[in-house]
Amino acid sequence: MSAIQLREGVWSVGVLNPALRVFDIVMEAKYGTSYNAYLVTGEKNVLIETVHAEYFEEYVDNITSVLPLEQIDYLIMNHNEPDHSGSVAMLMERCPNLKIFATAAGKKHMEDVANRALPIQIVKAGDTLDLGGKVLEFIPAPMLHWADSMFTWDPADKIAFTCDFLGCHFCEPTMLDKNIHDNAAYEGEFYNYYGGIFSPFKPFVLKGLNLLPAEADMVCPSHGPVLVERLQWAKEEYRRLSTVAPKAVKDAAVIYASAYGCTKALAEAAAEALKADGLNVTCLDLVAAGLPACAAAANEADVLLVGAPTINRDAPKGIWDVVTSIDAINVKGKAAGAFGSFGWSGEATGMLHTRLSQLKYAVPEAPFRVTFTPTEDDKKAMADYARSVAALCK
Ligand code: FEO
Repeated sequence: MSAIQLREGVWSVGVLNPALRVFDIVMEAKYGTSYNAYLVTGEKNVLIETVHAEYFEEYVDNITSVLPLEQIDYLIMNHNEPDHSGSVAMLMERCPNLKIFATAAGKKHMEDVANRALPIQIVKAGDTLDLGGKVLEFIPAPMLHWADSMFTWDPADKIAFTCDFLGCHFCEPTMLDKNIHDNAAYEGEFYNYYGGIFSPFKPFVLKGLNLLPAEADMVCPSHGPVLVERLQWAKEEYRRLSTVAPKAVKDAAVIYASAYGCTKALAEAAAEALKADGLNVTCLDLVAAGLPACAAAANEADVLLVGAPTINRDAPKGIWDVVTSIDAINVKGKAAGAFGSFGWSGEATGMLHTRLSQLKYAVPEAPFRVTFTPTEDDKKAMADYARSVAALCK
């Protein structure tokens, strides 16, 4: 992808990576991604973002198709994950007089990525950068999705540069949203991107939407197409997806695996007790319900009970898959417990208990376990255990 003029004096100089299929280890990228970067020209010239280190030379080619590197005065880094900051050190080798602007957290991340001190000016809310006839404003927007995140606002062009915010892993060679042909594919990736990157930070997304200048009619993110025609839609979808309705009653999820019905009997005792206490209870057999439904219920739950037998000194993989699908960012105030029936060694409940505690759930002192078929007393004890977990929920 070559340099693309977006508006007078505003250029896209980023690169496409259409072959990528897994982003950051964990995110599927069916259509690849782009590492976007921008060049704003004037009396002073400023780059906004660099690109993944592997694409540095293509990035430089794009910049130099507009103007020589020696004419670049400034670099603004809105966010410093290495897909954006990976080329900063190499750029400094070519442009040793470049002055960099970032938040305080951004400075730390950038220097940790580059492994060297860099000429960074720390900026705060309301700070500006005068390019001569055009003044850029910095708008810190922390936790979108790192503490270092900020927007850069160009009021003269009504453009907001938002880095990951409102982005998408999608390759549109023209960079213009009006030219997207497969809109269903784009929308699917837009939602996947929100889910993977921003869904753990919903309150911050709502703050970020409020920080974004309302008069912006172009948003330049650092992945995927520039938003103009889809800008209003994208903002509305972020607001809708991030708005959480207050709960009238607490949600409880009892999620279990059971080979012979013993752990199932405990799960049912727990679910009945919590229902009787007025909680909104979802009780799911992992094998019947499947991982997506169990993961969704686990994440929704204020009170989570995870049940498993022990197979060869461990919990079954499927139960671990549920536990590793939990959004660890948002367990504050929630409570969880582990339970299960076992035959001869019984490590699973202790291992799950430890993991739930590591995720920072409020947990009781110990998990609950019985050997083989639960007695009526065991079921009553399970009900008491479930209530003790629910009592820990704030
Ligand atoms: Fe695209 Fe959070 O980096």
